[in-house]
Amino acid sequence: MALLNILHYPDERLHKIASPIREFGPELQQLIADMAETMYAAPGIGLAATQVDRHIRLLIIDLSEEKNALQVLINPEILSMDGEITGEEGCLSVPGIYEEVTRAEHIVVRAQDQHGTAFELEATGLLAVCIQHEIDHLNGRVFVEKLSRLKFNRIVQKLKKSQKKNM
Ligand code: NI
Repeated sequence: MALLNILHYPDERLHKIASPIREFGPELQQLIADMAETMYAAPGIGLAATQVDRHIRLLIIDLSEEKNALQVLINPEILSMDGEITGEEGCLSVPGIYEEVTRAEHIVVRAQDQHGTAFELEATGLLAVCIQHEIDHLNGRVFVEKLSRLKFNRIVQKLKKSQKKNM
């Protein structure tokens, strides 16, 4: 396994739209294992392939305390959404920034598992939020872009400053 490099906002590659996955071979299995290792090491609760510069429709999530309940969603599609939930979100691609975002509270998703078997998943609360956040990544969208222009500008300034310090 290997740790992968996570792209940081405002890297343009975070705006690429991911393509559907058709091959469920060893290369994909390796990528899933590497993404899981990368997410656990960060540590984070969700990671989309887009964030490690692989532009395919794959996301992983693990909300467990023990980090032993990996969920793999391939080619995910939201079939329905309802309700509203507002909560603080962070992102491994936008380190140090946490902002309130409003999303659907309840969703039904159709996806494939890591071997290509289709399944439907009903999710509420944090899991629903996390899936929506990661699907946004696959569509080239980062959560800070959902904020008001004022907040967004403030975050971009902050990120520019911290990047200068790290050079
Ligand atoms: Ni994210």
